[in-house]
Amino acid sequence: MKLRRCAVLYIESREDLSIDWRTVLSGGNALASSSHWVALAPHLDQEITIDAAQLAALGGASQTVWRERSAAEQEYGEVCIAKLLELGLLIGDTPQYAAQRARDDTLRDTHWRPLSALAHTFGRWRGVVEETGMEAPSFQALLDRFGEPPPPTLDIHPEQAIALPAPAAGRMDEQLLQRYTGRNYDLQASVPLEVVARLLQRTFGAQEVRQVGPHSEVLKKTSPSGGGLHPIEAFVLAQRVDGVAPGLYHYHPMAHELRPLETMDHEAAAALSRYMLADQHWLSGAPLQVVLVARLERSYWKYRNHQKAFRAVALDAGHLSQTFYLLATEAGLPAFITAAINDADIEKTLGLDHLRHAVVAMCGCGPAADGPRSMVELRYGETDAI
Ligand SMILES: Cc1cc2nc3c(=O)[nH]c(=O)nc-3n(C[C@H](O)[C@H](O)[C@H](O)COP(=O)(O)O)c2cc1C
Repeated sequence: MKLRRCAVLYIESREDLSIDWRTVLSGGNALASSSHWVALAPHLDQEITIDAAQLAALGGASQTVWRERSAAEQEYGEVCIAKLLELGLLIGDTPQYAAQRARDDTLRDTHWRPLSALAHTFGRWRGVVEETGMEAPSFQALLDRFGEPPPPTLDIHPEQAIALPAPAAGRMDEQLLQRYTGRNYDLQASVPLEVVARLLQRTFGAQEVRQVGPHSEVLKKTSPSGGGLHPIEAFVLAQRVDGVAPGLYHYHPMAHELRPLETMDHEAAAALSRYMLADQHWLSGAPLQVVLVARLERSYWKYRNHQKAFRAVALDAGHLSQTFYLLATEAGLPAFITAAINDADIEKTLGLDHLRHAVVAMCGCGPAADGPRSMVELRYGETDAI
């Protein structure tokens, strides 16, 4: 049997702090620290504590060249090698280790930049329910807690400043100046199907399909996209869309269709939304919501092992979100975007693989409720809500 190291592996020295109460009582420095090694491998999707002997064995293994197991055992011991194979940090070439090898191969085949794979894998949330943690506090509460923030902008060479004329009025002003993040959705209201159709098509839909090879197409959309590849897919959570059963759908950008994944009753859709949004109840009432999912394999097909590719995917999602906001504003609807989502759980619900896909953000929109606002909403010309 042969083995090699998994493709991407980072080792972290993790510190454990403890307080020695006996020293505290005798007036000494009581903070004690110890450390241990943690192996971070994206294909395993969990942090693994390893010891110094295992660290040495991993350091001695190639990630490319296969080596006889017996040779590694001679150098590092049978128990150590068996444990690393079982953990999936070493990859074996026999059927016993096929599952770990398949995950490692998926990572290799997707052409990840290793640090990006690490940041993505270990930045995902599951089961986060932190409504108080993320609820936007008033600015006064932030000032009380953190003191004054850094200034709102840089102030470079004011003495050489060239004053610019006031901006002329333009056709986009209405949408640009009315846009705001809604946090107070009307829980009874629905969105007409025509409004949803325009929102989805003009944000996520193909405005043109270009044939670039016998079986290769690129899409032209209303937002820019790194490499023109448009790796972001729109999965729709319809809560209250006229004529559409509550549930999860994939929006097909070329066919302009909602393809059902799972329909459900209103209560189940509301609970799913709240769970996906990590309990942000001020957003979860929005009748139309969209999960932005990057198909990294499409982006990385061109940008192989590229430092900027993962960042570009996040920028793509940001552009789509602003287009969505402006179209929602045009329809008289406030909108939202959030990255504070249970992305690892959403992957499971949508049947996605985190090595090939990234659930980047969720956005949504819907009519605002009448009455007092429950949360901070920054609208132009208003200060009372801050
Ligand atoms: C990347 C990103 C993440 C955001 N995440 C959240 C969020 O988790 N929860 C939330 O209520 N708003 C979120 N927002 C909305 C911002 O809080 C909002 O844009 C900001 O307060 C300015 O208000 P405005 O959009 O009305 O101008 C997010 C916005 C962006 C661009």
